[in-house]
Amino acid sequence: MQEQEARAKASAFMRRSFWVLVLFWTVAIVGLLLWGIQRDREETKRLASYVAETHFDKEKAFRLWVASQGGIYVPVNEKNASDPLLEHIPDRDIKTASGRRFTLMPGFHVVRQVREQFPELYGVKGSTTSLRPIRADNAPDEWQKRALEAFSAGEPEIKEVTEISKEPYLRIMRPHPAEKGCLKCHGKMGFKEGDILGGVEVSLPLKPFLFHEHQQIVTSVWSYGAVFLLGIVGLFIGKRKLERGEAERIAVEKSLKESEERYRELVEISNDIVYRTDTSGVFTFVNSVALRITGYSENELVGRHFTDLILPEYKEKTAKFYGRQFIKKVPNTYYEFPLLTKTGETVWIGQNVQLITKGEEILGFQATARDKTERMNLGALWN
Ligand code: HEC
Repeated sequence: MQEQEARAKASAFMRRSFWVLVLFWTVAIVGLLLWGIQRDREETKRLASYVAETHFDKEKAFRLWVASQGGIYVPVNEKNASDPLLEHIPDRDIKTASGRRFTLMPGFHVVRQVREQFPELYGVKGSTTSLRPIRADNAPDEWQKRALEAFSAGEPEIKEVTEISKEPYLRIMRPHPAEKGCLKCHGKMGFKEGDILGGVEVSLPLKPFLFHEHQQIVTSVWSYGAVFLLGIVGLFIGKRKLERGEAERIAVEKSLKESEERYRELVEISNDIVYRTDTSGVFTFVNSVALRITGYSENELVGRHFTDLILPEYKEKTAKFYGRQFIKKVPNTYYEFPLLTKTGETVWIGQNVQLITKGEEILGFQATARDKTERMNLGALWN
Protein backbone atom coordinates (compact mmCIF):
# COMPACT_ATOMS: atom_id res chain seq x y z
CA MET A 1 0.00 0.00 0.00
CA GLN A 2 2.71 2.41 1.03
CA GLU A 3 4.77 1.38 -1.92
CA GLN A 4 1.87 2.04 -4.28
CA GLU A 5 1.39 5.48 -2.82
CA ALA A 6 5.07 6.25 -3.27
CA ARG A 7 4.88 5.09 -6.85
CA ALA A 8 1.79 7.20 -7.59
CA LYS A 9 3.58 10.18 -6.09
CA ALA A 10 6.67 9.56 -8.22
CA SER A 11 4.69 9.35 -11.45
CA ALA A 12 2.67 12.48 -10.58
CA PHE A 13 5.95 14.28 -10.00
CA MET A 14 7.18 13.02 -13.35
CA ARG A 15 4.08 14.30 -15.13
CA ARG A 16 4.27 17.66 -13.41
CA SER A 17 7.93 18.19 -14.06
CA PHE A 18 7.38 17.26 -17.68
CA TRP A 19 4.95 20.13 -18.14
CA VAL A 20 7.25 22.45 -16.23
CA LEU A 21 10.01 21.49 -18.68
CA VAL A 22 7.72 22.10 -21.66
CA LEU A 23 6.76 25.49 -20.24
CA PHE A 24 10.38 26.39 -19.56
CA TRP A 25 11.41 25.39 -23.06
CA THR A 26 8.58 27.40 -24.63
CA VAL A 27 9.36 30.49 -22.58
CA ALA A 28 13.07 30.18 -23.36
CA ILE A 29 12.54 29.85 -27.12
CA VAL A 30 9.90 32.57 -27.35
CA GLY A 31 12.12 34.83 -25.23
CA LEU A 32 15.13 34.22 -27.45
CA LEU A 33 13.03 34.81 -30.57
CA LEU A 34 11.64 38.10 -29.26
CA TRP A 35 15.11 39.18 -28.24
CA GLY A 36 16.39 38.29 -31.72
CA ILE A 37 13.58 40.25 -33.40
CA GLN A 38 14.27 43.22 -31.17
CA ARG A 39 17.92 43.07 -32.18
CA ASP A 40 17.00 42.80 -35.88
CA ARG A 41 14.88 45.93 -35.52
CA GLU A 42 17.65 47.84 -33.79
CA GLU A 43 20.06 46.68 -36.47
CA THR A 44 17.75 48.03 -39.18
CA LYS A 45 17.59 51.38 -37.45
CA ARG A 46 21.35 51.50 -37.03
CA LEU A 47 21.97 50.60 -40.64
CA ALA A 48 19.41 53.09 -41.98
CA SER A 49 20.87 55.84 -39.80
CA TYR A 50 24.31 55.08 -41.07
CA VAL A 51 23.21 55.24 -44.71
CA ALA A 52 21.22 58.45 -44.15
CA GLU A 53 24.15 60.12 -42.44
CA THR A 54 26.43 59.15 -45.30
CA HIS A 55 24.09 60.91 -47.72
CA PHE A 56 23.99 63.85 -45.41
CA ASP A 57 27.74 64.23 -45.23
CA LYS A 58 28.27 63.81 -48.94
CA GLU A 59 25.69 66.44 -49.73
CA LYS A 60 27.28 68.76 -47.22
CA ALA A 61 30.74 68.24 -48.72
CA PHE A 62 29.32 69.02 -52.13
CA ARG A 63 27.66 72.21 -50.87
CA LEU A 64 30.78 73.28 -49.02
CA TRP A 65 32.80 72.88 -52.13
CA VAL A 66 30.40 75.07 -54.11
CA ALA A 67 30.40 77.62 -51.28
CA SER A 68 34.21 77.60 -51.19
CA GLN A 69 34.15 78.66 -54.83
CA GLY A 70 31.79 81.50 -53.85
CA GLY A 71 29.12 79.79 -55.93
CA ILE A 72 29.57 78.57 -59.46
CA TYR A 73 28.66 80.02 -62.82
CA VAL A 74 26.26 78.09 -64.99
CA PRO A 75 25.12 78.86 -68.55
CA VAL A 76 21.88 80.84 -68.65
CA ASN A 77 19.03 78.84 -70.18
CA GLU A 78 15.39 78.03 -69.32
CA LYS A 79 16.47 76.07 -66.21
CA ASN A 80 19.08 78.51 -65.06
CA ALA A 81 17.66 81.99 -65.19
CA SER A 82 19.50 84.79 -63.43
CA ASP A 83 18.42 84.59 -59.80
CA PRO A 84 16.67 87.81 -58.73
CA LEU A 85 17.55 86.87 -55.14
CA LEU A 86 21.17 87.46 -56.02
CA GLU A 87 20.61 90.82 -57.66
CA HIS A 88 22.77 92.60 -55.12
CA ILE A 89 25.80 90.41 -55.96
CA PRO A 90 28.27 92.08 -58.28
CA ASP A 91 29.10 89.95 -61.31
CA ARG A 92 25.97 87.85 -60.85
CA ASP A 93 25.85 87.59 -64.65
CA ILE A 94 28.85 87.40 -66.90
CA LYS A 95 29.34 87.23 -70.63
CA THR A 96 32.24 85.57 -72.45
CA ALA A 97 34.09 87.20 -75.34
CA SER A 98 32.10 85.04 -77.76
CA GLY A 99 28.83 86.29 -76.23
CA ARG A 100 27.76 83.26 -74.11
CA ARG A 101 26.01 84.27 -70.86
CA PHE A 102 26.63 82.76 -67.44
CA THR A 103 24.95 83.38 -64.07
CA LEU A 104 25.98 82.69 -60.45
CA MET A 105 24.39 79.76 -58.64
CA PRO A 106 24.80 79.25 -54.86
CA GLY A 107 25.40 75.75 -53.34
CA PHE A 108 21.88 75.26 -52.04
CA HIS A 109 20.48 75.93 -55.46
CA VAL A 110 22.87 73.45 -57.10
CA VAL A 111 21.87 70.73 -54.63
CA ARG A 112 18.18 71.49 -55.15
CA GLN A 113 18.53 71.11 -58.89
CA VAL A 114 20.42 67.85 -58.61
CA ARG A 115 17.74 66.45 -56.27
CA GLU A 116 14.93 67.58 -58.52
CA GLN A 117 16.44 66.43 -61.78
CA PHE A 118 17.82 63.05 -60.73
CA PRO A 119 15.61 61.84 -57.86
CA GLU A 120 16.22 58.14 -58.62
CA LEU A 121 20.00 58.51 -58.67
CA TYR A 122 20.02 60.73 -55.65
CA GLY A 123 18.38 57.98 -53.57
CA VAL A 124 17.15 60.17 -50.76
CA LYS A 125 14.56 62.88 -50.55
CA GLY A 126 15.20 66.03 -48.65
CA SER A 127 15.30 69.75 -48.80
CA THR A 128 16.90 72.80 -47.35
CA THR A 129 14.50 74.99 -45.56
CA SER A 130 14.16 77.87 -43.19
CA LEU A 131 11.49 79.43 -41.02
CA ARG A 132 12.20 82.58 -43.04
CA PRO A 133 13.21 81.30 -46.48
CA ILE A 134 14.48 83.64 -49.12
CA ARG A 135 12.81 81.41 -51.70
CA ALA A 136 9.16 80.92 -50.85
CA ASP A 137 9.28 77.36 -52.32
CA ASN A 138 11.69 76.42 -49.57
CA ALA A 139 9.13 76.93 -46.79
CA PRO A 140 9.14 74.04 -44.28
CA ASP A 141 6.44 71.39 -43.98
CA GLU A 142 4.92 70.61 -40.58
CA TRP A 143 7.61 68.13 -39.56
CA GLN A 144 10.44 70.44 -40.65
CA LYS A 145 8.82 73.35 -38.86
CA ARG A 146 8.80 71.39 -35.59
CA ALA A 147 12.43 70.43 -36.15
CA LEU A 148 13.49 74.00 -36.85
CA GLU A 149 11.75 75.15 -33.69
CA ALA A 150 13.55 72.45 -31.75
CA PHE A 151 16.89 73.63 -33.16
CA SER A 152 16.19 77.15 -31.96
CA ALA A 153 15.70 75.56 -28.52
CA GLY A 154 19.17 74.00 -28.78
CA GLU A 155 18.50 70.53 -30.23
CA PRO A 156 21.53 69.45 -32.33
CA GLU A 157 19.69 66.93 -34.52
CA ILE A 158 16.23 65.49 -35.12
CA LYS A 159 15.97 61.88 -36.22
CA GLU A 160 12.65 60.12 -36.65
CA VAL A 161 10.96 57.30 -38.52
CA THR A 162 7.78 58.73 -40.07
CA GLU A 163 5.65 58.35 -43.15
CA ILE A 164 5.87 60.50 -46.25
CA SER A 165 2.89 59.86 -48.53
CA LYS A 166 2.18 56.57 -46.73
CA GLU A 167 5.73 55.21 -47.14
CA PRO A 168 8.08 54.78 -44.19
CA TYR A 169 11.08 57.10 -44.12
CA LEU A 170 13.91 57.84 -41.76
CA ARG A 171 14.05 61.63 -41.60
CA ILE A 172 17.13 63.37 -40.29
CA MET A 173 17.49 67.10 -40.02
CA ARG A 174 20.36 69.23 -38.80
CA PRO A 175 20.50 72.98 -38.22
CA HIS A 176 22.43 75.57 -40.19
CA PRO A 177 23.51 78.54 -38.08
CA ALA A 178 23.93 81.88 -39.81
CA GLU A 179 27.55 82.85 -40.38
CA LYS A 180 28.73 86.25 -41.33
CA GLY A 181 29.08 85.32 -45.01
CA CYS A 182 25.53 84.01 -45.18
CA LEU A 183 24.06 87.34 -44.20
CA LYS A 184 25.21 88.87 -47.48
CA CYS A 185 22.21 87.21 -49.07
CA HIS A 186 20.07 85.99 -46.13
CA GLY A 187 20.50 89.07 -43.97
CA LYS A 188 17.51 90.76 -45.50
CA MET A 189 15.28 88.09 -43.96
CA GLY A 190 16.23 89.50 -40.57
CA PHE A 191 18.88 86.95 -39.49
CA LYS A 192 21.74 87.88 -37.24
CA GLU A 193 25.02 86.00 -36.90
CA GLY A 194 24.49 82.85 -34.78
CA ASP A 195 20.76 82.52 -35.45
CA ILE A 196 19.44 79.27 -36.78
CA LEU A 197 19.20 80.27 -40.41
CA GLY A 198 17.64 77.04 -41.47
CA GLY A 199 18.17 73.32 -41.68
CA VAL A 200 19.06 70.54 -44.05
CA GLU A 201 16.93 67.43 -44.14
CA VAL A 202 17.58 64.03 -45.62
CA SER A 203 14.82 61.39 -45.84
CA LEU A 204 15.87 57.82 -46.47
CA PRO A 205 13.19 55.43 -47.80
CA LEU A 206 13.03 52.54 -45.33
CA LYS A 207 11.22 50.07 -47.58
CA PRO A 208 14.30 48.07 -48.66
CA PHE A 209 15.57 48.00 -45.06
CA LEU A 210 12.21 46.82 -43.75
CA PHE A 211 12.01 44.19 -46.45
CA HIS A 212 15.41 42.86 -45.39
CA GLU A 213 14.36 43.00 -41.73
CA HIS A 214 11.16 41.12 -42.51
CA GLN A 215 13.11 38.37 -44.25
CA GLN A 216 15.48 38.16 -41.30
CA ILE A 217 12.55 37.83 -38.88
CA VAL A 218 10.87 35.16 -41.00
CA THR A 219 14.12 33.18 -41.04
CA SER A 220 14.42 33.56 -37.27
CA VAL A 221 10.86 32.39 -36.70
CA TRP A 222 11.41 29.29 -38.84
CA SER A 223 14.72 28.35 -37.28
CA TYR A 224 13.59 28.98 -33.71
CA GLY A 225 10.37 27.12 -34.52
CA ALA A 226 12.38 24.12 -35.73
CA VAL A 227 14.55 24.13 -32.61
CA PHE A 228 11.43 24.46 -30.47
CA LEU A 229 9.73 21.49 -32.14
CA LEU A 230 12.88 19.40 -31.87
CA GLY A 231 13.01 20.07 -28.14
CA ILE A 232 9.32 19.29 -27.66
CA VAL A 233 9.59 16.04 -29.60
CA GLY A 234 12.63 15.11 -27.52
CA LEU A 235 10.75 15.85 -24.32
CA PHE A 236 7.77 13.75 -25.42
CA ILE A 237 9.99 10.84 -26.40
CA GLY A 238 11.72 11.03 -23.04
CA LYS A 239 8.39 11.10 -21.25
CA ARG A 240 7.08 8.11 -23.22
CA LYS A 241 10.23 6.16 -22.41
CA LEU A 242 9.92 6.93 -18.71
CA GLU A 243 6.27 5.98 -18.68
CA ARG A 244 6.94 2.75 -20.55
CA GLY A 245 9.70 1.84 -18.12
CA GLU A 246 7.33 2.55 -15.25
CA ALA A 247 4.54 0.43 -16.77
CA GLU A 248 6.96 -2.41 -17.37
CA ARG A 249 8.21 -2.26 -13.82
CA ILE A 250 4.67 -2.35 -12.47
CA ALA A 251 3.80 -5.34 -14.67
CA VAL A 252 6.93 -7.22 -13.61
CA GLU A 253 6.24 -6.47 -9.96
CA LYS A 254 2.68 -7.68 -10.32
CA SER A 255 3.56 -10.93 -12.03
CA LEU A 256 6.31 -11.51 -9.49
CA LYS A 257 3.86 -11.02 -6.66
CA GLU A 258 1.36 -13.33 -8.30
CA SER A 259 3.83 -16.09 -8.89
CA GLU A 260 5.07 -15.70 -5.33
CA GLU A 261 1.54 -16.05 -4.06
CA ARG A 262 0.90 -19.09 -6.24
CA TYR A 263 4.07 -20.68 -4.96
CA ARG A 264 3.14 -19.95 -1.37
CA GLU A 265 -0.30 -21.45 -1.85
CA LEU A 266 1.21 -24.54 -3.43
CA VAL A 267 3.69 -24.89 -0.64
CA GLU A 268 1.06 -24.38 2.04
CA ILE A 269 -1.44 -26.91 0.71
CA SER A 270 1.16 -29.64 0.15
CA ASN A 271 1.66 -32.27 2.82
CA ASP A 272 5.40 -32.08 2.39
CA ILE A 273 7.83 -30.05 4.38
CA VAL A 274 9.14 -27.28 2.13
CA TYR A 275 11.97 -25.03 3.13
CA ARG A 276 14.86 -23.05 1.81
CA THR A 277 18.27 -22.26 3.19
CA ASP A 278 21.05 -19.97 2.09
CA THR A 279 24.35 -21.42 0.83
CA SER A 280 25.61 -22.04 4.36
CA GLY A 281 22.48 -24.00 5.32
CA VAL A 282 20.67 -21.38 7.41
CA PHE A 283 16.86 -21.46 7.02
CA THR A 284 15.43 -18.56 5.01
CA PHE A 285 11.93 -19.97 4.52
CA VAL A 286 9.88 -22.77 6.10
CA ASN A 287 6.27 -23.83 5.34
CA SER A 288 3.58 -24.67 7.84
CA VAL A 289 4.11 -28.44 7.46
CA ALA A 290 7.68 -27.97 8.61
CA LEU A 291 6.43 -26.08 11.67
CA ARG A 292 3.84 -28.73 12.47
CA ILE A 293 6.26 -31.64 12.23
CA THR A 294 9.18 -30.01 14.07
CA GLY A 295 7.00 -28.28 16.63
CA TYR A 296 8.99 -25.02 16.28
CA SER A 297 7.56 -21.64 15.29
CA GLU A 298 8.66 -19.81 12.18
CA ASN A 299 10.69 -17.35 14.22
CA GLU A 300 12.52 -20.18 15.93
CA LEU A 301 13.47 -21.80 12.64
CA VAL A 302 14.31 -18.97 10.22
CA GLY A 303 17.87 -17.89 10.89
CA ARG A 304 18.94 -21.22 12.39
CA HIS A 305 21.26 -23.76 10.80
CA PHE A 306 19.48 -26.85 9.50
CA THR A 307 21.88 -29.22 11.32
CA ASP A 308 20.58 -27.83 14.65
CA LEU A 309 17.51 -29.99 14.13
CA ILE A 310 19.33 -33.21 13.24
CA LEU A 311 19.84 -35.95 15.76
CA PRO A 312 23.42 -35.39 17.07
CA GLU A 313 24.96 -38.66 15.85
CA TYR A 314 23.70 -37.97 12.28
CA LYS A 315 24.75 -34.32 12.15
CA GLU A 316 28.22 -34.74 10.69
CA LYS A 317 27.24 -37.29 8.05
CA THR A 318 24.34 -35.19 6.83
CA ALA A 319 26.35 -31.97 6.75
CA LYS A 320 29.05 -33.75 4.74
CA PHE A 321 26.45 -35.05 2.28
CA TYR A 322 25.13 -31.59 1.53
CA GLY A 323 28.61 -30.08 1.54
CA ARG A 324 29.46 -32.42 -1.31
CA GLN A 325 26.28 -31.44 -3.20
CA PHE A 326 27.32 -27.83 -2.88
CA ILE A 327 30.94 -28.32 -3.96
CA LYS A 328 30.14 -30.66 -6.85
CA LYS A 329 27.10 -28.60 -7.80
CA VAL A 330 24.82 -31.63 -7.92
CA PRO A 331 21.46 -30.18 -8.95
CA ASN A 332 19.29 -32.71 -7.15
CA THR A 333 19.84 -35.19 -4.28
CA TYR A 334 17.81 -37.50 -2.11
CA TYR A 335 18.81 -38.31 1.48
CA GLU A 336 17.23 -39.61 4.68
CA PHE A 337 18.09 -38.71 8.27
CA PRO A 338 16.36 -38.31 11.66
CA LEU A 339 15.26 -34.98 13.18
CA LEU A 340 14.80 -34.10 16.81
CA THR A 341 11.52 -32.18 17.31
CA LYS A 342 11.02 -29.47 19.89
CA THR A 343 9.30 -31.96 22.17
CA GLY A 344 12.24 -34.37 21.89
CA GLU A 345 10.74 -36.91 19.50
CA THR A 346 12.73 -38.43 16.68
CA VAL A 347 11.25 -38.00 13.19
CA TRP A 348 12.82 -39.64 10.16
CA ILE A 349 12.56 -37.62 7.00
CA GLY A 350 13.50 -38.27 3.41
CA GLN A 351 14.24 -35.15 1.47
CA ASN A 352 14.83 -33.99 -2.08
CA VAL A 353 17.25 -31.05 -2.17
CA GLN A 354 17.74 -28.83 -5.18
CA LEU A 355 20.37 -26.18 -5.62
CA ILE A 356 18.90 -22.74 -6.20
CA THR A 357 21.12 -21.22 -8.87
CA LYS A 358 21.35 -18.08 -10.90
CA GLY A 359 23.63 -18.70 -13.83
CA GLU A 360 26.83 -20.15 -12.40
CA GLU A 361 26.20 -18.87 -8.93
CA ILE A 362 24.57 -20.97 -6.17
CA LEU A 363 22.12 -18.94 -4.15
CA GLY A 364 21.01 -21.61 -1.69
CA PHE A 365 19.11 -24.86 -1.24
CA GLN A 366 15.47 -25.72 -1.64
CA ALA A 367 14.14 -28.87 -0.03
CA THR A 368 10.92 -30.87 -0.01
CA ALA A 369 10.87 -33.47 2.73
CA ARG A 370 8.47 -36.14 3.90
CA ASP A 371 7.94 -37.82 7.22
CA LYS A 372 9.32 -41.39 6.90
CA THR A 373 9.08 -42.38 10.58
CA GLU A 374 6.43 -45.02 10.19
CA ARG A 375 8.23 -46.75 7.39
CA MET A 376 11.52 -46.59 9.29
CA ASN A 377 9.85 -48.01 12.40
CA LEU A 378 8.37 -50.83 10.34
CA GLY A 379 11.81 -51.52 8.89
CA ALA A 380 13.21 -51.60 12.43
CA LEU A 381 10.57 -54.08 13.45
CA TRP A 382 11.47 -56.34 10.58
CA ASN A 383 15.12 -56.15 11.45
C1 HEC B 1 25.22 84.28 -52.61
C2 HEC B 1 24.06 84.44 -51.80
C3 HEC B 1 23.92 83.42 -50.70
C4 HEC B 1 24.78 83.19 -49.70
C5 HEC B 1 26.11 83.80 -49.37
C6 HEC B 1 24.18 82.15 -48.90
N1 HEC B 1 22.99 81.79 -49.44
FE1 HEC B 1 21.69 80.49 -48.68
N2 HEC B 1 20.52 80.74 -50.27
C7 HEC B 1 20.73 81.58 -51.29
C8 HEC B 1 19.71 81.41 -52.31
C9 HEC B 1 19.61 82.14 -53.61
C10 HEC B 1 18.87 80.42 -51.83
C11 HEC B 1 17.70 79.81 -52.53
C12 HEC B 1 18.19 78.55 -53.27
C13 HEC B 1 17.13 77.81 -54.01
O1 HEC B 1 16.51 76.94 -53.33
O2 HEC B 1 17.00 78.07 -55.14
C14 HEC B 1 19.39 80.03 -50.55
C15 HEC B 1 18.82 79.08 -49.74
C16 HEC B 1 19.24 78.80 -48.48
C17 HEC B 1 18.51 77.98 -47.55
C18 HEC B 1 17.15 77.35 -47.83
C19 HEC B 1 16.03 78.18 -47.27
C20 HEC B 1 15.79 79.47 -47.98
O3 HEC B 1 16.04 80.47 -47.32
O4 HEC B 1 15.34 79.39 -49.15
C21 HEC B 1 19.26 77.91 -46.44
C22 HEC B 1 18.93 77.15 -45.15
C23 HEC B 1 20.43 78.67 -46.67
N3 HEC B 1 20.40 79.20 -47.92
C24 HEC B 1 21.45 78.79 -45.76
C25 HEC B 1 22.60 79.49 -45.97
C26 HEC B 1 23.70 79.59 -45.07
C27 HEC B 1 23.76 78.84 -43.71
C28 HEC B 1 24.62 80.34 -45.63
C29 HEC B 1 25.98 80.66 -45.07
C30 HEC B 1 26.87 79.53 -44.80
C31 HEC B 1 24.11 80.76 -46.90
N4 HEC B 1 22.86 80.22 -47.10
C32 HEC B 1 24.76 81.61 -47.79
C33 HEC B 1 21.72 82.50 -51.40
C34 HEC B 1 22.79 82.54 -50.54
